[in-house]
Amino acid sequence: MSLIKTLETMQGKIVERIQQINALEPEERMKAVNELKSELLGKRGEIVQARQQLKDALPEDKPILGQLINKIITAINEAIEETKQYVETCQLEERLKKETIDISLPGREVRMGTKHILTRVLEDLEDLFISMGYQVVEGPEVEVDLYNFGKMNLPKEHPARDMQDTFYISSEVLLRTQTSPVQARTMEKHDFSKGPLKMISPGKVYRRDDDDATHSHQFQQIEGLVIDKHITMGDLKGTLEVIAKYMFGEERSIRLRPSYFPFTEPSVEVDVSCFKCSGQGCSVCKKTGWIEVLGAGMVHPNVLEMSGVDSTQYSGFAFGLGLERFTMLKYGVDDIRHFYQNDVRFLNQFKTLLEGEA
Ligand code: DAH
Repeated sequence: MSLIKTLETMQGKIVERIQQINALEPEERMKAVNELKSELLGKRGEIVQARQQLKDALPEDKPILGQLINKIITAINEAIEETKQYVETCQLEERLKKETIDISLPGREVRMGTKHILTRVLEDLEDLFISMGYQVVEGPEVEVDLYNFGKMNLPKEHPARDMQDTFYISSEVLLRTQTSPVQARTMEKHDFSKGPLKMISPGKVYRRDDDDATHSHQFQQIEGLVIDKHITMGDLKGTLEVIAKYMFGEERSIRLRPSYFPFTEPSVEVDVSCFKCSGQGCSVCKKTGWIEVLGAGMVHPNVLEMSGVDSTQYSGFAFGLGLERFTMLKYGVDDIRHFYQNDVRFLNQFKTLLEGEA
């Protein structure tokens, strides 16, 4: 058979093969078209053989033969290119089908948390004190007896130690029962030649109490301390008034009642006029018109001296308030345990209250 004939039959067969290939599934199609390519254009492929025979062909046939061979090569390359594109389109469609997003589905609700009410009240109070030039200091929760009691004018065997039932870790180490030891720790470090000491110290304290509506074995206190020359009871009263008004409203007034704390002399218990009945007498103030909110006093000279402060030159006031108690009074919470149980129904009550401030 002449070369022309051979090539023409080949061309016909190729058209047929390509038609067959186009009917296949995309992956098989790619494979089949590659097979066809190596059959014809591979090292021992039919086109290579035809090319070899070309040199023996009649000179006048050569251009026709050359054209035929080129046509076959182009046809195969086109078929490959077309198949490649087709397969890619198919794959893309498949992927898009899998990845479709149903925009008619309802969205998932994103639930936002808020700061715990105790954190909010604490931050509020911190803002107030910072605005008055106080520094915020923290102390250790695992404390030594010397600082928790000794330096607070409560030597061993002092009967007032019974006021605070203590978790002891060893005879000298305990979980602090109050934030007052931070007073001693801060005074010791303070350089009084550079100015007065004004600090608050918030933090957790621990008592061996049975938990009930008003007691918890762990709660939070904020200690306050101001030491300078010529600090008087008047400074204490003015400061306490600012705190009471800030927390419970401008119309509030305060009242000091004599009390006893080993680390202050004189010591006072501070009452605020009832914010519910404004002093008329109600269930919140137990018909007295006043609510006890914190303890305070003038720092005992022994406390100053034990922390290296000259009590003949310096004087100061201190106060200690319970964060939970403050918050319970402010928001009418009737059980301290609500703060720790984290029932969202309880927590959410404060959400709207706080949202505007966020
Ligand atoms: N530490 C006292 C307590 O836990 C509270 C207290 C009262 C602190 C009077 C003070 C203060 O600084 O002056 O019961």
